[in-house]
Amino acid sequence: MKKFGKKVIIECALNELYKDSMEKHYYIITYGCQMNVHESEKIAGILRSKGYAECGFQEEADIIVFNTCCIRENAENHAYGNIGALKKLKRAKPSLLIAVGGCMTQQSGAAEKLKKKFPFVDIIFGTHNLEDLGRLIDIKSSQKKSVIEIEEGRDDIGDDEDISFRTSYPNAWVNIMYGCNNFCSYCIVPYVRGRERSRRPENIIAEVNGLLDQGYREITLLGQNVNSYGNDAGGGFTFPQLLRDICKRKEKFRLRFMTSNPKDFGEELVRAIADCEQICNLVHLPVQAGSDRILRLMNRKYTAEEYLKKVELLRKYVPDCCLTSDVMVGFPTETEEDFRATLDLVREAKFSTAFTFVYSPRSGTKAAGMDGQIPDEVKKDRIMRLVELVNSQTREMSAEYLGKTIEILCEDFDEKKGLYLGRDEYGRMGYFKSDARPIGKFVRLKITDASGVSLYGEECGRA
Ligand code: SAH
Ligand code: SF4
Ligand code: F3S
Repeated sequence: MKKFGKKVIIECALNELYKDSMEKHYYIITYGCQMNVHESEKIAGILRSKGYAECGFQEEADIIVFNTCCIRENAENHAYGNIGALKKLKRAKPSLLIAVGGCMTQQSGAAEKLKKKFPFVDIIFGTHNLEDLGRLIDIKSSQKKSVIEIEEGRDDIGDDEDISFRTSYPNAWVNIMYGCNNFCSYCIVPYVRGRERSRRPENIIAEVNGLLDQGYREITLLGQNVNSYGNDAGGGFTFPQLLRDICKRKEKFRLRFMTSNPKDFGEELVRAIADCEQICNLVHLPVQAGSDRILRLMNRKYTAEEYLKKVELLRKYVPDCCLTSDVMVGFPTETEEDFRATLDLVREAKFSTAFTFVYSPRSGTKAAGMDGQIPDEVKKDRIMRLVELVNSQTREMSAEYLGKTIEILCEDFDEKKGLYLGRDEYGRMGYFKSDARPIGKFVRLKITDASGVSLYGEECGRA
């Protein structure tokens, strides 16, 4: 057995202390979708490899990175507001590095605009060169002027080494593809994320297996339209096949994916969901609107009826499947009648919940140039009515859980509530009390309160 003398131990402790005081710190601010949340884990991985450690406050940081989103105007406004607010901090601490990346900077002309508005920003990078952040930090360290590098699309993809520093245990995000080819007329994503690029299935499976070996218990596969996975590689592999291959692992874990575009959602996928126990019986299938005229203008390539047929197919194979969606109001020319068709569809498809959005014109997209933009007060009225409907459906479905037992994967502790929390297979949040370290465990809860959107229960066993 190795013995440590007192002196050695004191020296080690001093080294630790010294190291800590010398350590540089990073602080990352993330906006947008799960794709960005996961990319911030990659940014964290890069910063750690450069010797930075995470810190809890901007004031303690030596580098602050903004990972931005531009899906709607208010996402951009938030980022602009928070970058602007750093001017004071930068003045007080000139050695602080400020880096801005993500979808917002990738828009044409955005980097120049950002630089002009906030000359104190040190590094600006785009969605295609996130992996270069370490190199950009080195360049900045040896020059006074800011470093701006935005690439216009790259064919090679980060497909081998997993550089992420993950913070979401027991859940893990895994990219299966990047970019989007669909050009829905309202959407900026294809412009800022480039064309579809699929990762090799063997690399994805190796990453998933590695995560399961480390004890992760829920894997969410990410892509803008997972159903077109493999199409860009000449059709050699498909998404349902990838799901089936991942599910060859026999231990207990959950597999989720997002997002599925309804236009390519079909029987092969539905069968995989039905056959593979690990795939959660929860499908996120963004419908956007219930009026065929609006769907056509949105370039979504399906009608309301076709959408509902797919829902029917899903429920035929997977009768207990929960369905969630993205729904938008106020698209150009949307009439009250069009909007009512959306409400009807939300009812008919029986979404258990939905993300609701007010249409926001995005410069460079087709819809931004369309006549018939909807006034703000009309959009406001419609979003309120839509949210009310969605919430009432969610509450109604939650109420059915009272007295029932659900199984959640415990993922966190809510300090405010003093309760642990986790989601069941269908995405419902369950809260409970425990003093037996439940994080990362599958816990059965007997539901005692189901009056709101969340469920509350008592632990009655573990898997
Ligand atoms: N690839 C996914 C969507 C990613 S964007 C899919 O097609 O399903 C997430 C959601 O943001 C979209 O589903 C849409 O509802 C919303 N969204 C996208 N662009 C928007 C815009 N310009 N205004 C308002 N909402 C928008
Ligand atoms: Fe945007 Fe449509 Fe692509 Fe989704 S499928 S990212 S909504 S263009
Ligand atoms: Fe996601 Fe926003 Fe970009 S939703 S893909 S971070 S524009």
